[in-house]
Amino acid sequence: MALPDLCAALGALERDHARRRLRPLEQSGPVLRLGGRELVNFSSNDYLDLAREPEVVEGARRALERWGAGAGSSRLITGNTTLTEELEAELAAWKGCEAALVFSSGYLANLALLGAFAGPGTPVFADRLAHASLIDGMLLSKAPWSRFRHNDVSHLAEQLASRKTTGALIATESVFSMEGDLAPLPQLASRKTTGALIATESVFSMEGDLAPLPQLASLAAASGAWLLVDEAHATGVFGEAGEGLTPGLPVGRENLLAMGTFGKALGNSGAYFCGTRVQRDWLVNTARSFIFTTALPPSVLGGTLAAVRYLRKHPGLGRALLDRSAALKTSLERRGVPMVPSASQILSVFCGANEKALSLAAHLEAKGYLAVAIRPPTVEPGKARVRLSLTRGITEEQAVGLVDAVASFPF
Ligand SMILES: Cc1ncc(COP(=O)(O)O)c(C=O)c1O
Repeated sequence: MALPDLCAALGALERDHARRRLRPLEQSGPVLRLGGRELVNFSSNDYLDLAREPEVVEGARRALERWGAGAGSSRLITGNTTLTEELEAELAAWKGCEAALVFSSGYLANLALLGAFAGPGTPVFADRLAHASLIDGMLLSKAPWSRFRHNDVSHLAEQLASRKTTGALIATESVFSMEGDLAPLPQLASRKTTGALIATESVFSMEGDLAPLPQLASLAAASGAWLLVDEAHATGVFGEAGEGLTPGLPVGRENLLAMGTFGKALGNSGAYFCGTRVQRDWLVNTARSFIFTTALPPSVLGGTLAAVRYLRKHPGLGRALLDRSAALKTSLERRGVPMVPSASQILSVFCGANEKALSLAAHLEAKGYLAVAIRPPTVEPGKARVRLSLTRGITEEQAVGLVDAVASFPF
């Protein structure tokens, strides 16, 4: 696009109240500073405020001092350390899985998982509201795909039943003539027989509602499909010690692919996959977004390891946040605020039009609360909202103040 066309396109976004702008914070945390003003932060995904937890900061600091600032290369070159593998062992134990694999971000992990486990012979069935990274992974994988109505297991079952049997042929040598290496035959064999991949989030990032995971798992088991669960917003919050919602699902461990991120309730950055050793090995060997990117910096690995250990040492932190979130939601509803149905720490005030969401966000900011307007394409057109997330560091008094501020908006 030529420069005048870019300017015109940005102008069109502006007219639709859809233009986005970056704003630099002068201070972060539960109370942040923006444009010289202190605002209570209801837009953070650092749900447990672990980014500033002293044990987590100390874990990051120790790793920085021992290993230096950067990893120096990708994992398969010299970016794999004993610290990385220590974190992976901790993650696997926490999630009750055989093995874990760390990725540089959740976006990259989802590209990897879809690329490695779906493809032209393995169709993808994704929840209508699945995160952009799952959708982009699905598109990149070149798999035939469809999307089922949000959380509608019957719709998914219909789609699975009517799928064409897309047999795929995988050709390989068992011992490669030029390299002399061996093909990963067990992985290739399991890839051929799976036949479909179901993709969902366990806690939806914008709705805050939960996927019907037990039903999805049973359906996956019955239809021989892989179930890929994105635990980005469940990790750290759901489960006794924040291990999320995938442990114990009624699906064989070979059929479950669980991922989650470090950038939300773990207060760091990056992501994990948890599953079987063979699945991990397959990812290490095939996932381009794992292979062709620099490994996470040691400080992030050390900080994440400390965050997971902190959660395992202090079970119940997520439960307490969920109880407080439920109370906040009830208070907002009692004041007549139109809420998106939710069962988590993510609470969205429904606005519909982009302009209304922007004016509610501006109204709250004027009263000292930061809560960002979420507009298409992050949500469907006509479903703009102001997304509120409660974090552990927000006081009761601040939460009560927010309820008053939202309720005083002329819906
Ligand atoms: C559901 C979901 N999956 C994946 C991601 C991507 O994670 P990351 O920010 O680590 O790339 C996000 C983050 O926005 C998310 O909300």
